[in-house]
Amino acid sequence: MERVLLTQGAEGRVYDTKWLGRSVLVKERFIKKYRHPDLDAHITRERIKAEARALTRCRTFGIKTPIVYDVDFTTNEIFLEKISNSCTVRNYIYESVSKKLPMDSSVMMHLAERIGRVLNKLHANHIIHGDLTTSNMLLVPPYDSSDIILIDFGLSSVDEHAEDKAVDLYVLERAILSTHPNTEPLVKHLLNSYKVAGSRSAEDIIIRLDEVRLRGRKKLCFG
Ligand SMILES: Nc1ncnc2c1ncn2[C@@H]1O[C@H](COP(=O)(O)OP(=O)(O)OP(=O)(O)O)[C@@H](O)[C@H]1O
Ligand SMILES: [Mg+2]
Repeated sequence: MERVLLTQGAEGRVYDTKWLGRSVLVKERFIKKYRHPDLDAHITRERIKAEARALTRCRTFGIKTPIVYDVDFTTNEIFLEKISNSCTVRNYIYESVSKKLPMDSSVMMHLAERIGRVLNKLHANHIIHGDLTTSNMLLVPPYDSSDIILIDFGLSSVDEHAEDKAVDLYVLERAILSTHPNTEPLVKHLLNSYKVAGSRSAEDIIIRLDEVRLRGRKKLCFG
């Protein structure tokens, strides 16, 4: 079946294709030349397993993710539902900036709320995403009220500890602030929405996030 290359990252490629008559995406992870072949095969397999498991696990908790149709360990591919007309949160924010929408506008606050809520649900079910960025969140029309759809779970894990959840949030905070200028109000509202979304332990995770930030800063200062 013909494939159309959609994205090419450091770890793999995403193609658009047909599978049993449906429009699907194939996510292929490729071999890293600098790693030992056995180790590489192992890591690649673990990433694919982590991704397929977490995507499916999320759906059982009512967290929106693409359906996993198939996993092929001979070609290191995973076949996913293609979320049609989707827009990454990254592009949604860029669009809003180009429309001169301020970062503390109600539209951006509503986006922050939706992200905070879905991440609370993710963590309440002990799923750590591992690579939270605005490119790994999708919206569908109508974008202003769509649920957040989470993708790209290759670095995910299952963990109950506040520490891992706080690090997950820290990665996202850094990603948002470095990708999108003037997003401090958005991040603040996102974390507050995360905190008030229901899970009691969310408060502890936000407190832990302060410690993670402090460590991050020390690391920057002292190498
Ligand atoms: N199921 C999907 N439906 C629609 N678009 C998708 C879907 N999955 C991925 N995409 C698009 O492809 C891009 C890359 O996908 P993804 O984030 O899963 O791969 P990646 O970043 O290359 O992965 P990795 O970081 O694991 O190497 C996304 O940012 C999104 O724009
Ligand atoms: Mg990605």
